[in-house]
Amino acid sequence: MTLIDRPRRLRGDGVRGLVSETSLRPTDLIAPVFVDATTDSRTTIESMPGHERVPVDDAVDRVEEVLETGVEAVMLFGIPESKDENGSRAWATDGVVQEATRRITAETDAYVITDVCLCEYTEHGHCGLLEEHAHEDPDLTVDNDATLPLLGDIAVSHARAGADMVAPSGMMDGMVGAIRGALDDDGHTDVPIMSYAAKFESAFYGPFRDAADGAPSFGNRRHYQMDPANRREAMREVELDVEQGADVLMVKPALPYLDVVSDVRREFDHPVAAYNVSGEYAMLHAAAEKGWLDLEAVAHESLLSIKRAGADLILTYFAEDVARQL
Ligand code: PBG
Repeated sequence: MTLIDRPRRLRGDGVRGLVSETSLRPTDLIAPVFVDATTDSRTTIESMPGHERVPVDDAVDRVEEVLETGVEAVMLFGIPESKDENGSRAWATDGVVQEATRRITAETDAYVITDVCLCEYTEHGHCGLLEEHAHEDPDLTVDNDATLPLLGDIAVSHARAGADMVAPSGMMDGMVGAIRGALDDDGHTDVPIMSYAAKFESAFYGPFRDAADGAPSFGNRRHYQMDPANRREAMREVELDVEQGADVLMVKPALPYLDVVSDVRREFDHPVAAYNVSGEYAMLHAAAEKGWLDLEAVAHESLLSIKRAGADLILTYFAEDVARQL
């Protein structure tokens, strides 16, 4: 039978590599690393198998482990020794991320990206200063504008410690502009900003909140993170960050939001990042543990699909495992 088009002609083992549209390389991946000032030994994270909170003294070793797999970049999250109302340990010169960054940049070749947010540092667990009466009124949470200068202070303290890139994750309006201004005023004009430009208020962050001890103690984050229902609004959010000087545009989470990744890829020429979050990682592990999924295969397929949707870089807890397979 004559069929003009038979797509299977290009699926033979000899040719499929030649016509493959998407590739995954270890250098596309960023590995999140948790540095914990409350402990002097490594602590496993129950809901994120294979991941640990490491003390500052182990930060360099932890990053060396990542580098051995071929992954060249890490994203640092900090668990401070103490929390307060304003999250002041977030911008302390001797803070946990600042200290880890100094050591990692001095002793390794890793590209160090730091999380710029307050939720791990405030007693209440919100990503900024609270509005007055926030505890009583469900319509109130974070004071957006009062939080902006603090985000600038955090970013500057990270850059002074040697951070190669900063990544604000708090979804405050105007945060990218505030951080760009603060960095430039302090002489860090060449430190890029990877903005969590379209970050959704997602239930997939659950395991991370255990890992980083950053769950809000009351209320939720729906006033500052995006409504999962909104695709067009994501373009507005990204546009605002571009206008304020974002260098890399991130969408988060990744797999449930591939339409948004694809939209950002089409509408903007900036590099696009996607954050394959803790819940996306945990659910594959849980299913694999039950013998229902092949972990290696689904991890690889997940990351490939995120790239196919248009992401240039992927933050993922699978970074080391997948890089080792490649
Ligand atoms: C904090 C922050 C969160 C994540 C990254 N930075 C949690 C949140 O917003 O509640 C989630 C990462 C993950 O789930 O892997 N602003």
